[in-house]
Amino acid sequence: MDIKPRLWPTQYKFMTSKARFSAIISGLGLGKTFCGCLRAVMTALEYPGSHGAIVASTYKNLEDFIVPMLEQQLWEGMGVTVEKWGELLAGFDKQKMVIRFKNRSVIYLRSADRPDNLRGPNLSWFYIDEAAKVPHKVWKIMLGRLRVAPEQGWITTTPRGRNWVWQEFARKPRHEYEYFVGSTAENLTLSTGYKDSIKDSYSGSFLRQEFYGEFIGWEGLVYNLDMDKHDLSNSRYLYREDPDDERKVWRQEDFEYGIAGVDWGWIDPMAISVAVVRKDSHLHLVDEFCQNKTPIEKVVLEAKRLAEKWKIRTFFCDPSRPEYIQEFRNAGLDARKGKNDLDPGIAIVNRYLATETEDADGNVAEIEPLMKVDFTACEQTVEEFAVYHYEEDDEGRVLKAKPVDADNHLMDAVRYMVYGFEKRGHVSSRSGNR
Ligand SMILES: Nc1ncnc2c1ncn2[C@@H]1O[C@H](COP(=O)(O)OP(=O)(O)O)[C@@H](O)[C@H]1O
Ligand SMILES: [Mg+2]
Repeated sequence: MDIKPRLWPTQYKFMTSKARFSAIISGLGLGKTFCGCLRAVMTALEYPGSHGAIVASTYKNLEDFIVPMLEQQLWEGMGVTVEKWGELLAGFDKQKMVIRFKNRSVIYLRSADRPDNLRGPNLSWFYIDEAAKVPHKVWKIMLGRLRVAPEQGWITTTPRGRNWVWQEFARKPRHEYEYFVGSTAENLTLSTGYKDSIKDSYSGSFLRQEFYGEFIGWEGLVYNLDMDKHDLSNSRYLYREDPDDERKVWRQEDFEYGIAGVDWGWIDPMAISVAVVRKDSHLHLVDEFCQNKTPIEKVVLEAKRLAEKWKIRTFFCDPSRPEYIQEFRNAGLDARKGKNDLDPGIAIVNRYLATETEDADGNVAEIEPLMKVDFTACEQTVEEFAVYHYEEDDEGRVLKAKPVDADNHLMDAVRYMVYGFEKRGHVSSRSGNR
């Protein structure tokens, strides 16, 4: 069967990309899932006997978006009858979520919320839909399964700040990686009314993200976390066993004690961030807890568990709930009121994250940041770092006065912690590094 779709400009560039890894980063409704699935089917047909996998963020999304796309929408969009598609198939097993083609190719439909199902035999290709909503480790697992020609992986997604998708694809040009940015406006099958309604419901950087598919601007982010410079996995330090790298094992001798920051919530989550303090006073974020509608008794239990595991000396807490701080103390934890001054707190966290210094003559030198993060163990923290951003005016100019009050629970916890640590004056050898 001849498949001749009519493609929007961004879809066309993506479909003709020769890169081993490629991505469509775009606003809602451009036709990302359409194109990702189209490429899956075309690859299965082009490489008889090949095995590939489509990964959705959740099993529900698999059932609600991927299956209907493969069964119907894709063919309708191309003016092909569903029967014609059926002629290519040997079977679609929805129990096992496997599509078998007459040419012996196989497509596995999988979801990121069932991580065990992501492991399996070697693949020729994989496709991750709404990739920014899946953990970075899903990408890494799928990369590890790519062993058979054409060895290609592609993703489609709406951007989510500067998270792993940005880190992998967009931060700097990379050999074999290519990404294409498109806007919702390209999709000619969507009504103007629908497009306008999306435009009206967002503004500023979220309009740029959800409609135009841009990553939130560098200037708009409160913190800049860099996968190369801040991820502990790239250092000799790691405070957990790493199944993918047996050299990285628990190294308790590398740290003296832990500290923590706590942000209270109910509808908003309760958030705890944990750092270990290295002997030279560098901080390594190694653990997190973030859960909403959690009674204080449960949070206390969690805090005690973390305190034991990481030898936490002090919990620096959101000062707004003294009664919760008292609960921590009653449980034998050293809990103190954190400082709530936003600007100085942010400034201190930024100083700990700094990767460069400038001397009086304006010479810039690279330095090891005072704070690093275990990107795998602190996934939600990393996610918040990627999207925590300042407000903007209607023209999209960044207003440095105040960060948007969202996605900031672990950010607040980190801020209380670093601010508290700094104010208690653990200086010693730290100055030697700067
Ligand atoms: N090139 C195309 N030709 C025809 N229909 C398309 C095309 N691209 C997308 N569509 C249709 O537009 C709608 C939105 O596409 P979808 O892939 O769900 O968007 P997204 O995943 O970007 O939100 C779907 O009904 C899809 O079938
Ligand atoms: Mg989609």
